Amino acid sequence: MSRLVLVLNGPNLNLLGKRQPHIYGHETLADVEADCRLLAGELGLELRFHQSNREYELIDWIHEARETAGGIVINPAAFTHTSVAILDALHMFEGPVIEVHISNVHKREAFRHHSYVSLRADGVIAGLGTMGYQLGLRRVAQLLDQAKA
Ligand code: DQA
Repeated sequence: MSRLVLVLNGPNLNLLGKRQPHIYGHETLADVEADCRLLAGELGLELRFHQSNREYELIDWIHEARETAGGIVINPAAFTHTSVAILDALHMFEGPVIEVHISNVHKREAFRHHSYVSLRADGVIAGLGTMGYQLGLRRVAQLLDQAKA
């Protein structure tokens, strides 16, 4: 099974660090990527880290993952709450999928309480800040190891 893991980020996360820092913190997405790369090295994972404001681009990366990747860590951002298309794409991916939210979506507006992506995710992390990405990677690595054993 492939040790390649895709970390996918949805809309507005390119502005992490500048965007509502009282909710999302001061770290940039580049900081998150650097932390993920460091950890991926430790876990023996290969990493591809992407962000897009366009739904179709996230869907195309998920399709690509079908052929290449062992797992996906995804913060679909606002598409979490709207996108049946991303859910459908994830249903066609066979490896582990971990959904990450930097903020605790359950403590926020009611429209953030529902996630289409959770219908497919093997695990959901919310409210742990950007550490959620690293925990997501650790879980994917563990599931890949278990699948191999
Ligand atoms: C988010 C939570 C979503 O509700 C929001 O639309 C985002 C970011 C998070 O990481 O906390 O853009 O996914």
